[in-house]
Amino acid sequence: MPNSEFIRPLVQNLHAYVPGEQPKIKGLIKLNTNENPYPPSPRVLDAVKAAVDGRLRLYPNPTAQNLREKLAKLHGCAPENILVGNGSDEVLALAVRGFVEPSQNSSFVFRNSRPWKAVVQYFTPSYSLYPVLADIHGATRNPVELNPDFSLPSVADLRRSRKWDFDAALTFITTPNAPSGRGYTTEELKKICLAQKGIVVLDEAYVDFAEENAMELAGKLPHVLVARTFSKAYSLCFQRVGYFVGHPNLIAALDKIRDSYNVNGLGQIAAEATLDDLKYYRANFKKIITTREWLAAELTKANFRVLPSQTNFILAHPPEFAASEWLQKLRDKKILVRWFNAPEVRDYLRITIGTPEEAAALVKAVRQIV
Ligand SMILES: Cc1ncc(COP(=O)(O)O)c(C=O)c1O
Repeated sequence: MPNSEFIRPLVQNLHAYVPGEQPKIKGLIKLNTNENPYPPSPRVLDAVKAAVDGRLRLYPNPTAQNLREKLAKLHGCAPENILVGNGSDEVLALAVRGFVEPSQNSSFVFRNSRPWKAVVQYFTPSYSLYPVLADIHGATRNPVELNPDFSLPSVADLRRSRKWDFDAALTFITTPNAPSGRGYTTEELKKICLAQKGIVVLDEAYVDFAEENAMELAGKLPHVLVARTFSKAYSLCFQRVGYFVGHPNLIAALDKIRDSYNVNGLGQIAAEATLDDLKYYRANFKKIITTREWLAAELTKANFRVLPSQTNFILAHPPEFAASEWLQKLRDKKILVRWFNAPEVRDYLRITIGTPEEAAALVKAVRQIV
């Protein structure tokens, strides 16, 4: 029986987010989804194992109370400043649902004759989930190009461009940026935040590999939320834990619309144990940064143009062949990297920083290919 008429047209026409591949190929070196090459700390593994017993029949703490208390201590704020989600993807989606009106909704407010409550704004290239979240919600997207070197345009340039919407209900800024890897200073982020009339989310998924973080802005500015995740720097993609830090009024609003038990119990336990062993992770950040700099230098010697990175990946323009061909050539050698078929980054490969051994294998493969 044909039954597509039951599906909302918005959903029928939606281009869903495409996650990086997770192929099961033996011996594959997987450098495509910015996972951490190092396992969680032994204390985290012990804590998770110790929690796997008859208690699995119980619901987890609905507000992730212990985790929020530990995070509050880490960031020098109160638990009321923190909302934990099923990965930071969930808190990003909650921001769209909580702060943006669907475009069709006639109740939105006009400012300068624009439906400001309906606009989700972001730079391109940045995290490719933002447009999908806007589309799912039926909001209006406003993608605005970064400078050609992927640096942030100044507020004056944004005003001149006339494309940027200072009234947008919600603006996402990935900092440091993905997929370019470029880091932004707190000073330049602050200037953009101060110029915005709507909410600004600073998505700091990769910030532990960067020189600066902008967490102070979430404490000082009532319309700024900082998103963090345990996925990348804390080796915990599998458990799905991310969070927002921001003004208690914004956090309370999002708390009303999340699922009651949005953070699974083992995820809460793993994240709490992570915060008890930060020394282990900080040592890993250093190793990853050292490998990143080594890999960038080696690829540069092989005529790649490598952009400066403050993340656990690099964006590199390869020589001789198109980036899409490089993707296949490396795959043939059992090395998986990421290529995005988007105009600003089509000529680049995004390469996650693995272990020194994985980086050396990549360099060897590159030398064989060129
Ligand atoms: C910029 C950015 N933000 C957020 C996320 C989502 O992370 P999480 O695993 O916490 O949902 C990613 C993951 O790729 C990302 O690249």
